[in-house]
Amino acid sequence: MLVSSDTPALSARSLYKSYSSGDSRMDILKGIDLSARCGELTLLMGPSGSGKSTLMAVLAGLSRPDRGTVSILGQPIADLGEANLTAVRLRQCGFIFQSPNLFGALSALDQVRLVLQLTGAPAADIDSRAWESLKEVGLSDRTHLKPSAMSGGEKQRVAIARALVKQPTLLFADEPTSALDRTNGDLVIRILRRIAHRNGAAVLCVTHDSRLVGHADRIVTIDDGRIVSDERPETPDTFHHRDIEHAAS
Ligand SMILES: Nc1ncnc2c1ncn2[C@@H]1O[C@H](COP(=O)(O)OP(=O)(O)OP(=O)(O)O)[C@@H](O)[C@H]1O
Ligand SMILES: [Mg+2]
Repeated sequence: MLVSSDTPALSARSLYKSYSSGDSRMDILKGIDLSARCGELTLLMGPSGSGKSTLMAVLAGLSRPDRGTVSILGQPIADLGEANLTAVRLRQCGFIFQSPNLFGALSALDQVRLVLQLTGAPAADIDSRAWESLKEVGLSDRTHLKPSAMSGGEKQRVAIARALVKQPTLLFADEPTSALDRTNGDLVIRILRRIAHRNGAAVLCVTHDSRLVGHADRIVTIDDGRIVSDERPETPDTFHHRDIEHAAS
């Protein structure tokens, strides 16, 4: 199923953020405006130290901006209390990082089930949804393994399954392929793209890896705390998307 929607899953206006240490102050985000639509994979690129992870943390409501607003599904997160923000993050947002951060004692299946238990999913659905999510990332035959018995690529795919099982509206990934070889990195970015296109999630992925560029719907480049370019590469998929929209109109 191809989900196409203009709903801004995420919208940020005039974001500023600085860090102080001692007498000095470092401006990290210097007026960022960014929206992310459902159904799109957006890559966030830029030099080391340009503010990508800081921006992701602010967009995900993990860190507050000094100025500016972030809205998730049209709702300004500054208006949500801490409990509501946590609930939105838990139910609507998935997170994937460079390191998969799995629990050493749990099998792949249990890592994914745990998330559903935390979100309060009906007990009767938990097993089938966890299986489905692991199948989605190609790990149907690895569900019983603990992290020590998995390859780096497999562990990262469990981390994706764990983020995916919530069927998040927003998926934040910070350098999810940087610890992987080319084959696994390629697999991971294809999965992220599928999550955007098929599940209709807004996927934001920070990366340094220029090999991923060809997979993205949109590439936003940040330099020194500002967006310096925002492009939509022409891919076969872009044409496909447009053809469908054109045919439907
Ligand atoms: N908690 C903090 N306190 C002080 N300075 C910070 C903090 N977090 C980040 N910084 C600084 O903000 C700047 C931007 O950091 P950030 O992690 O956002 O960069 P990045 O673009 O993600 O870089 P990389 O590609 O290396 O991950 C850096 O100079 C960093 O040292
Ligand atoms: Mg970073």
